[in-house]
Amino acid sequence: MGSQYLEGNFAPVTEELAVTDLQVTGTIPEHLDGRYLRNGPNPVTPPDPASYHWFIGTGMVHGVRLRDGRAEWYRNRYVRSEEVAAALGEPTRPGPVHAGFDFAANTNVVGHAGRTFAIVEGGFRPYELTDELDTIGPCDFDGTLSGGYTAHPKRDPASGELHAVSYYWGWGNKVQYSVLDAQAKVRKAIDVEVHGSPMMHDLSLTEDHVVLYDLPVTFDVATASAGASFPYTWDPEYPARVGVFRRDGDGSDIRWFDVEPCYVFHPLNAYDDGDHIVLDVVRHPKMFATELHGPNEGPPTLDRWTIDLQAGKLLEERVDEHGQEFPRVDERVVGRRHRFGYSVGFTEGSASSHLRRHDLAARSTQVRDFGPGHRVGEVVFVPDSPDAAEDRGVLVGYVYDAAADRSDLAILDAQTLETVAAVHLPARVPDGFHGNWVPTAP
Ligand SMILES: [Fe+2]
Repeated sequence: MGSQYLEGNFAPVTEELAVTDLQVTGTIPEHLDGRYLRNGPNPVTPPDPASYHWFIGTGMVHGVRLRDGRAEWYRNRYVRSEEVAAALGEPTRPGPVHAGFDFAANTNVVGHAGRTFAIVEGGFRPYELTDELDTIGPCDFDGTLSGGYTAHPKRDPASGELHAVSYYWGWGNKVQYSVLDAQAKVRKAIDVEVHGSPMMHDLSLTEDHVVLYDLPVTFDVATASAGASFPYTWDPEYPARVGVFRRDGDGSDIRWFDVEPCYVFHPLNAYDDGDHIVLDVVRHPKMFATELHGPNEGPPTLDRWTIDLQAGKLLEERVDEHGQEFPRVDERVVGRRHRFGYSVGFTEGSASSHLRRHDLAARSTQVRDFGPGHRVGEVVFVPDSPDAAEDRGVLVGYVYDAAADRSDLAILDAQTLETVAAVHLPARVPDGFHGNWVPTAP
């Protein structure tokens, strides 16, 4: 059986480009000074389609540098783990890998403390990159990271610190919550006991609390022993629950709240509301129960989970039943009450995808379709100015056009979803995972 995750725009590209004469339609806002970076799987050597899992392809970071209303460059670079360097005939970039496990981090890419990190979960460490996306080497934050890291740190907009949860099957029944300070050193790490080895992809942060999603996708010893490239599967015996503890404590106050069995890769955002905590999440009804090549088991919906700390209850409600993923908010409201959110919607019966803009106050959703054969990836919000209102800014992301077999970097008005500018890339950017806007350091 072939893997759909190697076909169409999932197929890897083979060339690394550095292009400076980029064509632009529209007007790039002058204040955008930085890089839009996005990571995703791009196998450096052709994998066996029968066993290939979308989550294990070699990381490749695609970036566009914007400044003074211009698109200065587009670059795409493999993350050079030892295996990737060998495949490319290059010397190894030595560094502190965790437990001997080396992997070309493929899931997200972040700027922090003036540095750039390609990141992934499951026990693997970040890979540090240069501003121009060349690989420096594996990174343990100057010896402060005890295990692997995560693909989804949450930046507290007040402190600039990154809050994360890490998991690794070799740790037994625990996961680790950590805080990476503004100088990129882990200043706090707390072990949290769980029932096994769950795949804990993300966490939520509020002003007072940390929220963990302890859900029934777990390390599967039998699948791993059989040689599967991605050994996490649905475990109907594993309790589905959400854990809450105070940020200013040591984790010993953790409380658990049961939820209907499901899987959440990505919360949209979370916030405290008196005695309640509001969690907006993209909820998959199941994950890796029957489909073992990638996430594809029923439409993932936008749901609101409200925890009542007094009553000790969690209420689940549906906000948007349309299939969607890659939820993002204005980064300045992470952990604070948000009104707006943006996600990628799956267009029924087609290979296209579209953008969805949610107004959580009005409980309404607005759609931007890019036309037949167009696929939009995750978008990132960039405000018009540091103190602009929520939602006043642009959304930035890659849009693939199947007819032209190329991608654009789209810059959209966040309120109307209309195109402000499009940077036309000379190649396609394969479907991938996550990215961020990394402003130029002042
Ligand atoms: Fe993710």
